[in-house]
Amino acid sequence: MATTTTFDNAQIFATDHKENWSNRSKDHLWMHFSRMGAYDDGGSIPIIVKGEGPYIYDDRGKRYFDGISSLFAVQLGHAREEIIDAYAKQAREISYFPIWSYSNPTAIELAEKLTSYTPGDLNHVFFTSTGGEAVESAAKLIKQYFKMMGKPMKHKIISRHIAYHGTTQGALSITGIPGAKQYFEPLVPGHHKVPNTNFYRAPLNHRDSVEEFGQWAANRIEEAILFEGADTVAAVFVEPVQNSGGCFVPPPGYLQRVREICDQYDVMMVCDETINAFGRIGEYFASTRYGVVPDIITCGKGMTSGYFPMGAMIANERLYEPFRHGTASFLHGFTFGGHPAGAAVALANLNIMEREGTNEHVRANEAAFKATIEKLYDLPIVGDVRGAGYFLAIEIVKDKVTRETFNAEESEKLLRGFLSKALFENGLYCRADDRGDPVIQLAPPLICDQTHFDEIESILRTVLTEASSLIF
Ligand SMILES: Cc1ncc(COP(=O)(O)O)c(C=O)c1O
Repeated sequence: MATTTTFDNAQIFATDHKENWSNRSKDHLWMHFSRMGAYDDGGSIPIIVKGEGPYIYDDRGKRYFDGISSLFAVQLGHAREEIIDAYAKQAREISYFPIWSYSNPTAIELAEKLTSYTPGDLNHVFFTSTGGEAVESAAKLIKQYFKMMGKPMKHKIISRHIAYHGTTQGALSITGIPGAKQYFEPLVPGHHKVPNTNFYRAPLNHRDSVEEFGQWAANRIEEAILFEGADTVAAVFVEPVQNSGGCFVPPPGYLQRVREICDQYDVMMVCDETINAFGRIGEYFASTRYGVVPDIITCGKGMTSGYFPMGAMIANERLYEPFRHGTASFLHGFTFGGHPAGAAVALANLNIMEREGTNEHVRANEAAFKATIEKLYDLPIVGDVRGAGYFLAIEIVKDKVTRETFNAEESEKLLRGFLSKALFENGLYCRADDRGDPVIQLAPPLICDQTHFDEIESILRTVLTEASSLIF
């Protein structure tokens, strides 16, 4: 039965609501990627009711630092009036209309703005509601393109170990996390995985030079193309900085070599910037930061600072050309792509980023952020601190010298049994992740400065010190 609940802040923070919301949540709300049995012991599901700047609050009024911008999205922090007003203003004009053969001014302006940021000739924006849909759209566009070009065999996609590209069947096929795929096989056939750019875990004979490691890793893509047959390979998908596994930055020259290989074998290069874009790495698009021009950029999350679900697949002139004139159309779309109010939200978000110099702020402060987190190297379980911009990962290890990692049982105990809970209880919302080797992921809102970095470091120090004492 539907119930209507109205409350002011005092009611939201009333203690008795906690059990209420948690129990009601357990009854009907199926949380994503969550063990629904995790609270069988009577524990309460955290109920988040409010956000302000880089902080979130639960229903008891307790404040937490939002250490991963909610889910790598809230670039400008919570509750920015200007963004909220932009939604309301546009919704009053027209709250929704599709872009299926019709256009609207805010979607047009947003497409213009996004293409003013893209490198090279990535001039054509196909809006989606999510990053996963953007990845799905890129894969389908490339397939249709090659069929129209008389190369129907080109359909396979190469991507990297442990990379996450979304959960729909197509995007999941590109995802390189075996555990995320096992229940959904068979997926799209023929896709192939190659090494990522985790230099900390590079094969022993490629640890002397990061540049050499980068060339080695990129050349595995060429090897895969040759193995599969270049006439069957359609695309390579890479995040410039790979999130899953913990912030693998591209070695100098790596992305350039990937571009070169793609050109040589007529394979499309897709940069999945679902997390990387919109200031996370100090540029609107990370491809720009690393000096590479892909054929497609996919993005989402931070485009609206998470205030509205919006993604995009941005394609170059070559991919758009067969659709420019005549009767061809890309046979693909989503109900809410190019949502007029969502586009207004994105425009407001990007206008603030321009006005406040968010990218410049990130570039000016990224070294301080890293240096602050690197102070944790004095703890015995901190093996590696890596990343770029406001996007860092801490790899935790059993032995710093040998880089020995935890086995599945230890990792389960450490991450799920202790770290995730302890970090949250100590006031830091972030993510302990073991899709690859165990890491703590950090991606604070882009408005943060040294005081916030210190706050993050201090909570991490408390919790990781306790974790060390549990292990050693
Ligand atoms: C690199 C990358 N691609 C795709 C996705 C999927 O995005 P969404 O959850 O918006 O579908 C994500 C989500 O985290 C991502 O990190």
